[in-house]
Amino acid sequence: MKSTNNIEFAAKCIQEGKLVAFPTETVYGLGANALNPLAVAKIFELKERPSFDPLIVHISTMAQLETVADNIDERIYKLAEKFWPGPLTMVLPKSSIVPDLVTSGLPTVGVRMPKNEIALELITRSNCPIAAPSANKFGRISPTTAAHVQKQLPNVDYILDGGKTTVGIESTIIRLTEIGFQILRNGIITKEELEKVVPFDGSSEVEKLSAPGMLKSHYSPRKMLLIADTELLHIEKSKAGLISFSGKLEGGYLKVIKVSQTNDLKDYAVNMFEAMHSFEDDPQIELIIAEPVPSEGIGIAIMDRLRKAEYDWREFLNSSYGADTL
Ligand code: TXA
Ligand code: MG
Repeated sequence: MKSTNNIEFAAKCIQEGKLVAFPTETVYGLGANALNPLAVAKIFELKERPSFDPLIVHISTMAQLETVADNIDERIYKLAEKFWPGPLTMVLPKSSIVPDLVTSGLPTVGVRMPKNEIALELITRSNCPIAAPSANKFGRISPTTAAHVQKQLPNVDYILDGGKTTVGIESTIIRLTEIGFQILRNGIITKEELEKVVPFDGSSEVEKLSAPGMLKSHYSPRKMLLIADTELLHIEKSKAGLISFSGKLEGGYLKVIKVSQTNDLKDYAVNMFEAMHSFEDDPQIELIIAEPVPSEGIGIAIMDRLRKAEYDWREFLNSSYGADTL
């Protein structure tokens, strides 16, 4: 495996237009020099990602922000001061140095300063902003360890191993209107926290904002995953793995992964993708059941990931057997 922790070598790869998978606090990213369109094209190729899905540009200093974005207003600085480095991506007017490939032709660019020492050092040593989507094949489970990256993207030029990520789900993505911020993707930084800094703009519904990449299906394991909070009568629990939160559903399952010992939703976020990977890789498991949580606070981001992971499987079931079979 090409994964060690040689940041200097990784930075050299980035400078040479190669791809480096690296840890951030959220999930591992698949990085390339954001200003080199040929390098960025390799990301889309390796990930098998459609070109209409724009990439997030990662920076390590505020000076770098001013090179990739234009018309940065006071609110951006306020949000950056409070949440950067950290799991917040802001969609801003792009500067002319950012290639169209990065933004899928949009006049805006998603920018974030990650809170991970390895990531920050990689960006600094590479001496360029780094464009990076999550380091998984398009549509599949996001990686929270170097081994997850190796499983899906064995041909990446280099993997920087920084251990397991500490947040576990992707950044909150916002954009700003004249009124305030709108959330394009939910994450660990919640609407309530953001509202303390900038007003929320509830004038148009998130569904209708439809940023590119906001697909119904995503994060999908290769084995059927279903969300279930009640006892399921028709499934063979003896062949199923349960992603458990409350502990109430655990009876009868072949395997159980309890994502939190203290009923903390942050732990669900940290451990959910790892649990999916682990069941996906386990030859004894045929079906994955995930326990839902209330859609409030961090629960919104968790349920968003679970629903997208379930989506194709639920569609498949509905088309095969009619709705509500299970
Ligand atoms: O935590 C994260 O955000 C991770 C780590 C690696 O930083 N990255 C990540 O990237 O989740 P990715 O490519 O899996 O998701 C990026 C999403 C796109 O699918 C799109 O929805 C949104 O960010 N996005 C990026 N640029 C945008 C833009 N200019 N306008 C609207 N949405 C944008
Ligand atoms: Mg992704």
